Amino acid sequence: MTRNLFSLKALLVLAAGCSAAAISSQKVDYVIVGGGPAGFVLAERLSRNASVKVALLEAGPDNQTDPLVEVPAYFFQTQQYMWQYNSEPDPNLGGLTPNLWQGKRWGGGTGVNAMLYCRGAASVFDEWAEVSGNDGLAWASILQDFKQTTHYADPHVNYTQVVNTSVLGNGPLEVTRDRQLTEFDEPFANALKSTLNLTEIDMIDGHAIGVSLGLETIRESNRTRDYALNTFGYLMASRPNVQMLHSAWVQRIGFSDKTAQSITYINSLSNKTYKINAKEIIVTAGALNSVQLLMLSGVGPKDTLSKLNIPVVADIPGIGAQLYDHHYSVAEYQTVDSVESFWQWSENATEIPIARAQYAANGDGPLGRINGDVYAGLRLPDSVFEAINNSYYPSIPKDRPQVIYEFASTPFLQGAPNVSIIGTLVAVIQPEAYGYVTINSSDYRDPPLIYSNFYGSEGDKAAVLYGYKQLRSIMLSDALKPYIVNEIFPGPNVKTDEQIWKSIQTGAESWHHAMGTIAIGKVLDTNWRIKGLKGIRVVGSAAFPSPPTCAIQATTYALAHRAAKDIVKADANCA
Ligand SMILES: Cc1cc2nc3c(=O)[nH]c(=O)nc-3n(C[C@H](O)[C@H](O)[C@H](O)COP(=O)(O)OP(=O)(O)OC[C@H]3O[C@@H](n4cnc5c(N)ncnc54)[C@H](O)[C@@H]3O)c2cc1C
Ligand SMILES: *[C@@H]1O[C@H](CO)[C@@H](O)[C@H](O)[C@H]1NC(C)=O
Ligand SMILES: *[C@@H]1O[C@H](CO)[C@@H](O)[C@H](O)[C@H]1NC(C)=O
Ligand SMILES: *[C@@H]1O[C@H](CO)[C@@H](O)[C@H](O)[C@H]1NC(C)=O
Ligand SMILES: *[C@@H]1O[C@H](CO)[C@@H](O)[C@H](O)[C@H]1NC(C)=O
Ligand SMILES: *[C@@H]1O[C@H](CO)[C@@H](O)[C@H](O)[C@H]1NC(C)=O
Ligand SMILES: *[C@@H]1O[C@H](CO)[C@@H](O)[C@H](O)[C@H]1NC(C)=O
Ligand SMILES: *[C@@H]1O[C@H](CO)[C@@H](O)[C@H](O)[C@H]1NC(C)=O
Ligand SMILES: *[C@@H]1O[C@H](CO)[C@@H](O)[C@H](O)[C@H]1NC(C)=O
Ligand SMILES: *[C@@H]1O[C@H](CO)[C@@H](O)[C@H](O)[C@H]1NC(C)=O
Ligand SMILES: *[C@@H]1O[C@H](CO)[C@@H](O)[C@H](O)[C@H]1NC(C)=O
Ligand SMILES: *[C@@H]1O[C@H](CO)[C@@H](O)[C@H](O)[C@H]1NC(C)=O
Repeated sequence: MTRNLFSLKALLVLAAGCSAAAISSQKVDYVIVGGGPAGFVLAERLSRNASVKVALLEAGPDNQTDPLVEVPAYFFQTQQYMWQYNSEPDPNLGGLTPNLWQGKRWGGGTGVNAMLYCRGAASVFDEWAEVSGNDGLAWASILQDFKQTTHYADPHVNYTQVVNTSVLGNGPLEVTRDRQLTEFDEPFANALKSTLNLTEIDMIDGHAIGVSLGLETIRESNRTRDYALNTFGYLMASRPNVQMLHSAWVQRIGFSDKTAQSITYINSLSNKTYKINAKEIIVTAGALNSVQLLMLSGVGPKDTLSKLNIPVVADIPGIGAQLYDHHYSVAEYQTVDSVESFWQWSENATEIPIARAQYAANGDGPLGRINGDVYAGLRLPDSVFEAINNSYYPSIPKDRPQVIYEFASTPFLQGAPNVSIIGTLVAVIQPEAYGYVTINSSDYRDPPLIYSNFYGSEGDKAAVLYGYKQLRSIMLSDALKPYIVNEIFPGPNVKTDEQIWKSIQTGAESWHHAMGTIAIGKVLDTNWRIKGLKGIRVVGSAAFPSPPTCAIQATTYALAHRAAKDIVKADANCA
């Protein structure tokens, strides 16, 4: 790929149209801070107009040819490309500090994630339209953006899977499914269907209660990860009006009174700092870093900023006040050897070369898939919540699951023995409780302060407790007996609710779906602008008003695509 590394001087353009800001030397129309899916989708769409200059800045490195990024099965070994942020001790988890690590490279989360592609329940988006006043977010509208960002490539397979291809379009991002199932996929799916009375769905056409065999953002032709960089990024790579800068860590946004005017970044390879002026700054730095950057720039709760001697540009208590994250607890099982899992293709010296040769030949085998993406979205009985007088869970709109049960053939817990292992999880997917993000340092190099508040309500606790017990009983049922040797975690001695709750706490993890910290309808107006400020918008996972009902990359791409349309339209009218 050829990137545009033209000098900043070449970006000198005259201010045109709607600028309210005074102009100094180098200037672009849009500076987009954060090269994740939101940043790439916006940059690609805004730069289709050749007279609009766009600079996209990413703190992390390029590293696009690293096999850890390209080979699907290695997704859980990409830690070097992450912001390694942990929560403060979470009292609900007995003081555990769950890791909410986020992507830090071209592609952001999509450059490191597990590639599961899903959209979830339609009513979430209708609610977003209502709370934000942005009709484009309603399911019937945003479905166009889901389609326009994706296309489907079907592998030649000998098994059936529900895929409603009418909701995939001609967009850059390729979505596919596995070429071969793992030995545990169908047995697990069948056990979920029969125990929970569910049918198979694809989780992309607005339905969310049912069992899915999983879709992924993998390029089918050679089974490599496809993500924001090699889709939207490649599309704009040769456009002279686009500048893509990696290793460019934005330290601060500069304001004149209430108008955002510039950003300052440090090139982490040279340690030199640069300033870029812009008509508009769009912050797409994810749900955690966007909050930190705004606060460092004087936008946030006045008390927090004043304590750190950060001059207050705007006192906005809502910034960072609501941090949603899907979270789950795990149970793990040893399986019979014929269930191929992490151990065979990653630790067993006989099998490693076989798996590698298979993948090198044509992308087949365990390395070309994510190894365990079968999952169920389901409702729990109302009686679970009536018993504790929780009215939130029963009131969740009926098209939405309350929990997800999923498995993976890679162990979740550290120090797993060298045997075939299936890890399972129970996630609260419409959590009642949320945490918050703030800062305790004015130095951009210090991490933000995260309060996860997992299982932070009685309803969330009741949901995970019920789900954990139910999933364990499914795993130990007669239907799965031919596959399961024993329960490794929490183990057969864990029986009472009190013991089970301890295991839920110990086995709790973030799903890395941080969102909602700078929500549209709360902190942002209907057109993605921070209320009370000019020349600055926030787009991406930070802008979600509330959690979707499954993994969130699909929604991030679609939301950014919708926002780009809104921005083009509004800025054309100088609205
Ligand atoms: C480990 C992991 C696994 C996941 N698995 C899945 C999955 O299987 N399916 C799914 O749907 N979703 C998954 N997700 C979630 C999904 O990838 C993210 O929600 C999504 O990428 C969020 O997009 P975003 O554009 O809002 O932010 P991000 O993707 O986080 O992108 C923000 C970018 O901004 C950069 N940045 C931050 N601060 C600065 C700064 N100051 N200056 C310059 N750049 C900055 C970051 O380095 C990052 O690259 C996963 C996420 C992670 C981390
Ligand atoms: C392209 O951008 C320029 C400068 O902002 C604007 O005047 C023009 O109307 C835009 N063209 C289209 C087709 O939107
Ligand atoms: C990743 O990028 C960094 C900085 O650009 C470079 O030093 C490193 O060698 C790269 N690693 C890989 C595996 O490509
Ligand atoms: C499908 O193909 C796989 C190998 O690719 C094979 O193991 C399996 O038996 C086949 N299933 C059927 C039903 O033909
Ligand atoms: C199973 O689901 C079907 C349709 O979703 C429903 O009609 C039926 O009553 C359910 N059966 C049980 C036992 O819940
Ligand atoms: C596919 O999805 C569309 C849009 O939600 C829906 O109208 C249609 O009924 C679905 N088709 C099938 C076969 O489920
Ligand atoms: C996979 O295919 C894509 C699209 O054809 C290509 O750009 C990429 O280089 C290939 N990757 C590998 C590792 O072969
Ligand atoms: C940049 O600064 C870091 C941290 O202070 C230092 O480790 C690194 O060597 C510096 N790099 C250069 C090129 O000066
Ligand atoms: C590694 O895999 C081979 C081939 O499947 C198998 O025979 C062997 O028992 C495995 N090694 C161990 C230590 O289990
Ligand atoms: C639920 O509410 C009822 C009626 O207000 C009360 O009697 C009961 O004790 C409450 N139960 C719990 C578990 O709080
Ligand atoms: C599993 O096997 C690998 C490779 O032989 C070894 O490095 C690792 O320490 C083993 N793990 C355990 C828990 O025994
Ligand atoms: C901020 O909080 C972190 C995590 O609790 C702590 O390690 C650090 O010392 C604090 N920094 C300051 C300046 O208070």
